[in-house]
Amino acid sequence: MEIYVYGTGCGAGELTREALSPARIAAFVETEPTRETFLGRPVISASALSERQIDLLIVTAKNAPDLPLPAEKVLYLKNHLELHDRNGSYDAARKALGDAFVDRLQRQEVLVRAPLWDDGAFAAPGDWVRLKTLQTISRELIDVPGAMAELGVFRGEFAAAMNALLPERRLYLFDTFAGFDPEEDAPEGLAAAHENTSSEAVLRRLPHAEQAIVRAGLFPETAAGLEGETFALVSLDADLEESTLAGLRWFVPRMAEGGYLLLHDWNHPGLPGVRAAAERYEAETGQRLRGVPVCDVTGSLIIPF
Ligand SMILES: C[S@@+](CC[C@H](N)C(=O)[O-])C[C@H]1O[C@@H](n2cnc3c(N)ncnc32)[C@H](O)[C@@H]1O
Repeated sequence: MEIYVYGTGCGAGELTREALSPARIAAFVETEPTRETFLGRPVISASALSERQIDLLIVTAKNAPDLPLPAEKVLYLKNHLELHDRNGSYDAARKALGDAFVDRLQRQEVLVRAPLWDDGAFAAPGDWVRLKTLQTISRELIDVPGAMAELGVFRGEFAAAMNALLPERRLYLFDTFAGFDPEEDAPEGLAAAHENTSSEAVLRRLPHAEQAIVRAGLFPETAAGLEGETFALVSLDADLEESTLAGLRWFVPRMAEGGYLLLHDWNHPGLPGVRAAAERYEAETGQRLRGVPVCDVTGSLIIPF
């Protein structure tokens, strides 16, 4: 079976980790390829698809164009593994990905994805519960002093929402903008999916980019000089254990009274390091991180201060 996968981002990374070994993928497809290979497989341009014999194209990119293929050959696997077969049969999905995987995805709760703001500043559909939680929290911060920060920015989707909702706040952006700390041994699909970004691209999507301060490189070294800062809102989204622990050690003592720290992926089955980091932080400081778990796509722990 000739299987092609559209996209080389997080969705493709998750698909290969959870259900489809890269060895079974004939090629990855990008609209305009930005790399020659992904996970050891060739990356071809969308325009080259017409020359290929394709049994199944799995679309993992949010913004894939309409593709000139019959519907029964296309399967949409959206971010965080939401499955859509426009035919409704899921036959091709079962053949390619196996019954157990398809059954599990079909049992998943319905995820609500919708745009929150339609003013052009932030109109892309995202994780509605996560964004709505952020919007609700941002209203609580009016009298709380301090800056905002995100550790783990990637392409700036969540940072853009923070920036749109609280345009008066300084926003520190901590990321390598080139993937995870190599010492952390990230799973291959996860690592490869996070390499393709840049601080310039992130700044372009911020509606109030003048508030952003980019701290590019490995955290916590990139926080040097900011020891005197106070934070009203922090998004900690570093995925892996050591960096999450470094984030807790650095930010928790600097949170303003009334501020919030949002610890993302609290319930992500593939990222156990997030909880492990919180447990290690509690054990070494004796301080409980009393937070409210939220049912966004991979779970966030909302920690008030
Ligand atoms: C899941 S992505 C962040 C997604 C983003 N918060 C969003 O929701 O749009 C995780 C990011 O953490 C970054 N990261 C992880 N550990 C890091 C560290 N120690 N220093 C800098 N960046 C780190 C990775 O480079 C990656 O881009």
